[in-house]
Amino acid sequence: MLDYQAILEEIYSSLKKTEDTGEVASYIPELAKIPKDKLGIHLQLITGEDYAVGDALEKFSIQSISKVFSLSKAFQLVGNKLLTRVDVEPSGNPFNHLSLLELENGIPRNPLINSGAIVVADVLLSNLKNPKEDFLNFVRELAHDDSISYNEKVAESERETGFNNYAAANLLKSFGNLENDVDDVLDFYFHQCSIMMNCKQLTNAFFVYANRGKCLKDVLHLTPSQVKRINAIMLTCGFYDEAGEFAFEVGLPGKSGVGGGIVALLPHCFTIATWAPALNPQGNSFLGMQALEQFTTKTKLSIF
Ligand code: DON
Repeated sequence: MLDYQAILEEIYSSLKKTEDTGEVASYIPELAKIPKDKLGIHLQLITGEDYAVGDALEKFSIQSISKVFSLSKAFQLVGNKLLTRVDVEPSGNPFNHLSLLELENGIPRNPLINSGAIVVADVLLSNLKNPKEDFLNFVRELAHDDSISYNEKVAESERETGFNNYAAANLLKSFGNLENDVDDVLDFYFHQCSIMMNCKQLTNAFFVYANRGKCLKDVLHLTPSQVKRINAIMLTCGFYDEAGEFAFEVGLPGKSGVGGGIVALLPHCFTIATWAPALNPQGNSFLGMQALEQFTTKTKLSIF
C-alpha cells in the first residue's frame, strides 16, 4: 500500500525548494492580488480516504476549471445536440485565441477554450430557469458543499478587462452561434469563472468523473458515456497548447484555471487538485504541473 501522505509531503517540500518562475495572472486585476507563494494539494481516493498538504483548504478562483462543470450541465440538458455548436478537437492554440474561430465559421474547436465555453454558457442560459442560481447549485451538489459561491469582485474585475472575451462572443454572435445577448452570456461566463473553491472541494466535485458519473454520495449525475466523453475532452483539450505536454508528463485527464488551480483524475482510482497561483506562459500553474508530474511518477499511477 502506497503511503500517500508521505508522497504528498515529499512533493510539497521539493516544490517549496523549487524556484517558481511563473507569474500570477494579471489580466484579471483581482487575481493579481493573490500571493504567489500559496501551495496546496488534496488527494481523494475512490475508496474514500483523503490526504492533504499546504494550503489545500484555502479557496481560490477556479476560472477555467468551471468549464468542466458547465460542459457537464450542458450535456445533462441537451445531450449530444451540443456538438452541433462546438467541436471536440484540440486547438493547439492559447485559450483565448480568436483567428481559428473566424476561419472555422464560428464553431469553436472545443468546449474548454474560451470561445467554446462561451457557447456552452449560452446553452445554459437558454435552458436553465435561473441560470446563475441553478448552475451554482449544480456545483454545490457535485461537491456536497453549500458554502461554494461566486466572487462578485472577481466577476466584475474580469468584465471590466474582458475585451478578448467580448471579441470572441461578438464573433460567435455574428456567425449565429449565440442565442442570447452578448452581455448576458458573458455575465454568466464571468460568474462561472469567479467561483471560489479549495482543493478539497475540487477533488470532491470531480469525483463523478472518476466514478462513472456517481458523486461521493453515490448519486448518478452523468451517464458513463458522458463521463467518458468529458474525460476525453479534458485529456485532449484541458491544457490548451500544453495538452500534449500534460499528457506526456502527467498522463491524466485534467483541467487548469488561471487562478492557479489544476484538477486531474485517474478513473476508478482517485481525483487530485493542486493550487499554486503563478502560471507558466501557457497559462497553466507552473508548480501545479510539476506536482502532478511528480505524483504520477512516484506512484506509477496514470492512465497509460
Ligand atoms: O476567460 C478567461 O480568460 C478566464 N475567465 C478563464 C481563463 C482560464 O482560466 C484559462 N486557463 N488556464
